[in-house]
Amino acid sequence: MTINYDHPLRPQYHFTPEANWLNDPNGMVYYEGEYHLFYQHHPASTIWGPMHWGHAVSRDLVHWEHLPIALYPDHNGTIFSGSAVVDWEDTSGFFDGKAGLVAIYTQTLDIPDTDLSKQRQSIAYSKDNGRTWTAYAGNPVLSDERFVDFRDPKVLWHAASARWIMVLAAGDRLCLYYSTDLKEWTFASEFGEKEGSHDGVWECPDLFLLPVEGQPGSEKWVLIVSIGDDEGQPEGSRTQYFIGDFDGVTFTNNNGPESVLWLDHGRDNYAGVTWSDAQGQGGARLLIGWMNNWKYANIIPTGEWRGAMTLPRKLSLRMQEDGIRLVQEVPRELSVMRADRHELRDEQIKPGSNLLHSYKGELLEIEAEFELDSALEFGFKLRMGSGNETIVGYNAVDGELFIDRTRSGAVDFHPQFGCRHSAPLDGENGRIKLQIWVDRSSIELFANDGALVMTDQIFPLKGAEGIELYAEGGTVWLRSLQLYPLKSVYAAANITEKATP
Ligand code: FRU
Repeated sequence: MTINYDHPLRPQYHFTPEANWLNDPNGMVYYEGEYHLFYQHHPASTIWGPMHWGHAVSRDLVHWEHLPIALYPDHNGTIFSGSAVVDWEDTSGFFDGKAGLVAIYTQTLDIPDTDLSKQRQSIAYSKDNGRTWTAYAGNPVLSDERFVDFRDPKVLWHAASARWIMVLAAGDRLCLYYSTDLKEWTFASEFGEKEGSHDGVWECPDLFLLPVEGQPGSEKWVLIVSIGDDEGQPEGSRTQYFIGDFDGVTFTNNNGPESVLWLDHGRDNYAGVTWSDAQGQGGARLLIGWMNNWKYANIIPTGEWRGAMTLPRKLSLRMQEDGIRLVQEVPRELSVMRADRHELRDEQIKPGSNLLHSYKGELLEIEAEFELDSALEFGFKLRMGSGNETIVGYNAVDGELFIDRTRSGAVDFHPQFGCRHSAPLDGENGRIKLQIWVDRSSIELFANDGALVMTDQIFPLKGAEGIELYAEGGTVWLRSLQLYPLKSVYAAANITEKATP
């Protein structure tokens, strides 16, 4: 099959399947120098259907090599979301005393003559670095018929109790289990029935320990929970997190049950989970999400592929005025995509002027630091042209950061896609820092060193590449700006336009 990576909306540095449907990232594990990325995949259609695990690997988090489908549906059902671990000590007995990879995932089996299905957990193992997988003969390894929704197992090694822990979504709560061999699972506890947001069904949990920045010896457990779309919620599907303690059996939320912490304030970051085993090998805790939203996931106007991942993000915990919060930054590895660098310093931005009028680009990284002044609003208009523009702005009156994609390009495929949405953000010493990543069909915004993140898809017209730096109702100081045109990861295969000054 010839793949057209140069389709005007094909992401040029975000992961996409070669063709057909992609949703959640699955089974992410770092092993022998490779980041594995499996994903929910329908290999025969650009809409969701019988799920398989697609597979790709990367050594640098930038270039991904597509590999054959890793897991196919079998007599236990289709392959829903799940995780993978390195079984270093061969606790499973699958690896003749050596290390190997074990995947833990949901299988969904239709119950004949009904609309119902069973969701049960299975495992498979690989002795060849994830290239081929063998389903365990004793599958499924965990079921509980009381729950209709019972899926998305994330497994971690809990060193203090020397046991594997599984955290699993069961409708309106999480169930936790433990095991010494990845095959037999014992119920440990439940979490969440009355905690956080329940705007939709709970899905795709993750649980991990992170140090708190600048506080040596201080660590907290982070519990991530995605919540599915609900017709009544304009936001659609999104992801929340909890900060707390975990003793190997029970997770305790350190915040009140009514407190809701959002991982991303944009519309298109769902089902994100982190890589296993990278952190233990000196690496960071890295998350990747599905850059889409169940509200319109099946009808976004892409091409022979449908669905992309967010950029990978390095997670850390930071003590802020309102408590410990998760912060996200794009790993340094991605700076190899920079093709050029333009810089501005100490410029006063006035209404009606555009210091960036001579620049354009569809693949960009922008870093800007503003000092608040009299402007009521300021920011960037991106992917401008032929009536298209996407605004990334700060409303200084309300203290809110926003993305406005109402005129971003194709929006009318769903009534709630063309929207402006915002989140509260205070200046730090009167300054607002923005880091913006622009690709052919997305904007990712990291504010104040990753304290607030917004991820949005956009579908602009080809050639809409203009950039404006604007201020309204007064002036704002641009203390510094770096503009990096980025290279496509397909540079050798495609001729891509480069932004020119
Ligand atoms: C989340 C999700 C999971 C499920 C998978 C099916 O997006 O609904 O709960 O395992 O997608 O593709």
